Amino acid sequence: MEVRVFFTPSELMEEAVRGRTVVVLDVLRASTTIVAALHNGARGVIPSGSLESATELVVKLGVDDVLLCAERDVRQVEGCDLGNSPAEYVSETVKGRLLVLATTNGSGAILAARGASRVLIGGYVNVGRVIDALAREKELVLLCAGNNGGFALEDAACAGFLLRRYVEDTGHEVLPLNDGAWVALELGKRATRSPLRLLRRSAHGRYLDGEGFGDDLALCAAVDSWPVLPVLRDYIIVPSE
Ligand code: MLT
Repeated sequence: MEVRVFFTPSELMEEAVRGRTVVVLDVLRASTTIVAALHNGARGVIPSGSLESATELVVKLGVDDVLLCAERDVRQVEGCDLGNSPAEYVSETVKGRLLVLATTNGSGAILAARGASRVLIGGYVNVGRVIDALAREKELVLLCAGNNGGFALEDAACAGFLLRRYVEDTGHEVLPLNDGAWVALELGKRATRSPLRLLRRSAHGRYLDGEGFGDDLALCAAVDSWPVLPVLRDYIIVPSE
């Protein structure tokens, strides 16, 4: 399988995604949160590029079972129902509900991949499901959400972890690779030793810890803990059957 890894959404050219499957990774924390939400019974998650458009959409939908979920600078935005901590997305809160999600990097990265033939959302928590879904793939793009337009160690290392596990599980090769994929594979060696240790060392992991979200790191590092495969259908992320 040919693999290209992009470390930020701004690197993603439309021609790179057309006709391909894209897996979006925002390990800390949007992609992990989306997996948690769907695993715990949310009907779907609508990614939104801004707080304003998320709020407008919730007003327009105007139904009781919609939750406005938004994060800025890792905190829940005032007036919203939920923030971006996967720990909040328990079944008592999200089951049967539709979520509109606006986060600093992750929701925008998902929207950036919309031109792909298939958009999947991945993290450590569902890596096995993602790999199963790639069984017949010939060309793959891994899109890291990054952090405020820059490189994020946790996403790049998770991309490498996923590729290493893909090779191990399927026996298939990952070649040819773009330069990003080579770097990701190297970082993936460290992630394979301990995803949690890597998350704790990453700049965003340390920031989350300092802001009181340290417990989220273990949730985000738990390999295959929530085996659900989120897939973007038109404008809404739903669990694949
Ligand atoms: C994002 O989308 O920027 C992140 O998931 C930030 C966070 O840790 O909440």
